[in-house]
Amino acid sequence: MDNKQVEVEITDLAFNGRAVGHLDGKVVFLDGGLPGERVLARITSSKPRYDKASVVKILKQSERRVPAVCSHFAYCGGCTWQDLTYHDQLIYKKKQVIDCLQRIGGLESTLVQEVVGSVEVFRYRNKMEFSFNADTDGSDFTLGLHRQGRFDEIFDLERCFLTSDVVSDIVRWIRDYVRKAGLTSYNVTNHAGFMRFIMIRQAKRTADLMVNVVTNYGEMPNRDRFIHEITAAFPQISTIVHNQNSLKSNIATGEIETVLFGCGYIEERLFESVFRIRANSFFQTNTVQTETLYRIGFDLLEPRPDQRVLDLYCGTGSIGILIATYVNEVVGVELVADAVQAARENAHANKMQNISFFEGDVKDYLKTCEKTGGRFDSVIVDPPRAGLHPKALRGLSKLRPEKILYISCNPSTFARDAKELVAAGYDLPEVRPVDMFPHTMHIELASVFNRK
Ligand SMILES: C[S@@+](CC[C@H](N)C(=O)[O-])C[C@H]1O[C@@H](n2cnc3c(N)ncnc32)[C@H](O)[C@@H]1O
Repeated sequence: MDNKQVEVEITDLAFNGRAVGHLDGKVVFLDGGLPGERVLARITSSKPRYDKASVVKILKQSERRVPAVCSHFAYCGGCTWQDLTYHDQLIYKKKQVIDCLQRIGGLESTLVQEVVGSVEVFRYRNKMEFSFNADTDGSDFTLGLHRQGRFDEIFDLERCFLTSDVVSDIVRWIRDYVRKAGLTSYNVTNHAGFMRFIMIRQAKRTADLMVNVVTNYGEMPNRDRFIHEITAAFPQISTIVHNQNSLKSNIATGEIETVLFGCGYIEERLFESVFRIRANSFFQTNTVQTETLYRIGFDLLEPRPDQRVLDLYCGTGSIGILIATYVNEVVGVELVADAVQAARENAHANKMQNISFFEGDVKDYLKTCEKTGGRFDSVIVDPPRAGLHPKALRGLSKLRPEKILYISCNPSTFARDAKELVAAGYDLPEVRPVDMFPHTMHIELASVFNRK
């Protein structure tokens, strides 16, 4: 069956961005094509319940198809939907949220509002990570982004349209520098080599730009030459940090951080508040849409001056600091020490005296609340993609706040957690999706659970 060529009518888009069709009563997942298109495809793998196929040729084209602007689109693992009109991308994102709520959460009556589209459809990211990958013998390397579905294949980036042009220019410059300076690059399978990632943060509301060089263990060779040459080529760079990372996992963080140039952080503005962001702490990636998401969340939460609010998974404290103006007291909880430090600095810089932070695991904090009888009127949760830990869900149900504002970057885990919260005695009247990541299948949402 493998490698057989077939004609498939595409009917839908799956949550992983793949196109869906049917062949002889069996589902086929395709690596391209849009709903309404008929394609010639090659079967690449065949399982009892579904086949996977690669599009060879589009036989009938959809009117929803638009030309992709990026020359890397055909193979880049970043954008999946650049060839679909933005209007249609939002339709599929809404459908994804509805499907999850109904299929996983069993929540038929929750209203899913229209997706709020991104103001900027290109160049919206304030942070981007690029990986090095050396040949196994170390003789050459690439620096750029992952090929679709490949953890071990990086292509040389020319330009990425999700970030500003200077970011791509810096990446190309560093590629040339590493080659010229004879530095070794990391290989993701044998873990040898020095240069691992380049992470760039560029604030949208200030002029700050950070270059974070993530390497294997060791000092940056010829660091003064590197700093001198890169800042001469890009005077926009406001800070450079070096993170040393010995972990085998493919993540652009470090265990030892050295500030090579500037202050070691960038500042970004949300509404009237300024936030300090360090290399390893979380900050929402689309600045403009973050304001929209938070505004929607706060409108749903309806904060009051007499309230005590708990901000769980608070990162660098942005949500808690912004809401602190409207309530009596806020407590933020965050696992990463760097982020908690930044959250405290941010509260101080924004003159917020009614907010404090707890460094630790959400489930442990909630356990302590249970033991000490700590009370909160409202709780905000903004967990990572994995959603809430079962013990955190249990702790939240026991705390029984009047309202829970849930901000989610993953409709599947949101739907799973929503089912539990509804079972624990909460109503979920509506969900408001906000698009932070045009051309990808990702979707964020804000929703408020009301205690019955
Ligand atoms: C999606 S981010 C949200 C950050 C913040 N609310 C914001 O908007 O900038 C999730 C945060 O949860 C933190 N985190 C992950 N697991 C955690 C846990 N078990 N307990 C506390 N914080 C956790 C991460 O470090 C990260 O900062």
